[in-house]
Amino acid sequence: MARSQAEYVCQSCGAVYSKWQGKCDACAGWNSISEETRIAVLPGSGKKRRKGKPATLSNISDKSARLKRSSTGIAELDRVLGGGLVPGSAILVGGDPGIGKSTLLLDMAGRTDNTLYMSGEEAADQIAMRAERIGLGETELQIGTETRLENIIATIEDVRPAVVIIDSIQTVFAAGLESAPGTVAQVRACAHALITLAKASGMVLFLVGHVTKDGQIAGPRVLEHMVDTVLYFEGDTGQQFRILRAVKNRFGPTDEIGVFEMTGDGLKEVANPSSLFLGSRTEKSSGSAVFAGIEGSRPLLVEIQALVAPSMAANPRRTVVGWDSARLAMVLAVLDARLGLGLSGSDIYLNVAGGIRICEPAADLAVAAALISSATDKALPLETIVFGEISLSGDIRPVPRADLRLREALKLGFDAAILPASGKTKSSGMRLSEMHKLSDLLDSMNART
Ligand code: TYD
Ligand code: MG
Repeated sequence: MARSQAEYVCQSCGAVYSKWQGKCDACAGWNSISEETRIAVLPGSGKKRRKGKPATLSNISDKSARLKRSSTGIAELDRVLGGGLVPGSAILVGGDPGIGKSTLLLDMAGRTDNTLYMSGEEAADQIAMRAERIGLGETELQIGTETRLENIIATIEDVRPAVVIIDSIQTVFAAGLESAPGTVAQVRACAHALITLAKASGMVLFLVGHVTKDGQIAGPRVLEHMVDTVLYFEGDTGQQFRILRAVKNRFGPTDEIGVFEMTGDGLKEVANPSSLFLGSRTEKSSGSAVFAGIEGSRPLLVEIQALVAPSMAANPRRTVVGWDSARLAMVLAVLDARLGLGLSGSDIYLNVAGGIRICEPAADLAVAAALISSATDKALPLETIVFGEISLSGDIRPVPRADLRLREALKLGFDAAILPASGKTKSSGMRLSEMHKLSDLLDSMNART
């Protein structure tokens, strides 16, 4: 029995309510809830029921030969996907408008065989112009500008492509549904139909999803649990570097990133990004520390900048770009409680250079060094890198892959490191200052006041 009912769905996170309310309890968004009609099929009802046929694992593994990965033709994209395209998989590519999603996928489409690019955002000749701009040349790439789900599926069944790109899922609509394109109901229903088709036919499905800050169109959040892989394109549209990050991947690691540079003729891969985020540091200045991080399998050196300024306000400012603000609050609290630095009354700005976002706890010590350096106006030596995790007790904890971090820093001309004491680190040709406690950091920076 199908029964239609009204429900209230948050357009940014997909939470469902039985009556309207101004604020979504799930994502804390305001005015994002709107009414949708939903056709609910009651579970277990209906006459046409069929027993499923479970298969033994050994039978399935025999067939897994068909799960051979194929390359996208773009090494950085292959890396983020965990080694290339898996047949029958669905990949969501999210990111702000203008960040480069269409450019990247069009580039990939031109490098893979039998690909269908379905755009609901641009006309065919606009896409052709872009293809020319990024130097695709003569390819067999097939382009469609259909937005009606039924027609897209018919086209796919006719063309039988190996890879399908839907740019974007917010423009697709199923004619049978009352809701407008881009609403949660539409996005979810269309994505479900396309993903089912991909699983059945073995084609690789890319869904592009816009993330908007005001939550007016359905964010791709509701899709995250439906797809196999979620990639997010990060970066500042004002800067040329773009980071592609896997936040979910059923077929590979999730900490891997791909680094690209947006140029006048398309996105270029940056195969060796380790020095990209160092900024132009020519002379030493206070408030700056170089963090030796690891993103996925690759080391990455990033400059962390801090500014500690006296504040007149009752609630001093805390502005963080590229790091977790809760983590900053923790480091500040430990600095105050264990070292008595008295930063709580100051305005504090923290910036990770180059527009990259760092998630590793290993950055704690570098953040602390930058903060101490700014607060005491004592610059760190130019050739020094810093890494280590800070515990609430003020101890410095070891972090994974110290040797890899040191090797990369040495390669880029650094000759000293401030790091956790582990007793296991090989000297690697650098001067190592091993820290047990935060107070050791203060001493090594000569910053006792
Ligand atoms: P686009 O791929 O359209 O972004 P999205 O699909 O994520 O919305 O990227 C558009 C931006 O990239 C636009 O601001 C122009 C810029 N761009 C270049 O700088 N060089 C290029 O070769 C191309 C194709 C785009
Ligand atoms: Mg686009």
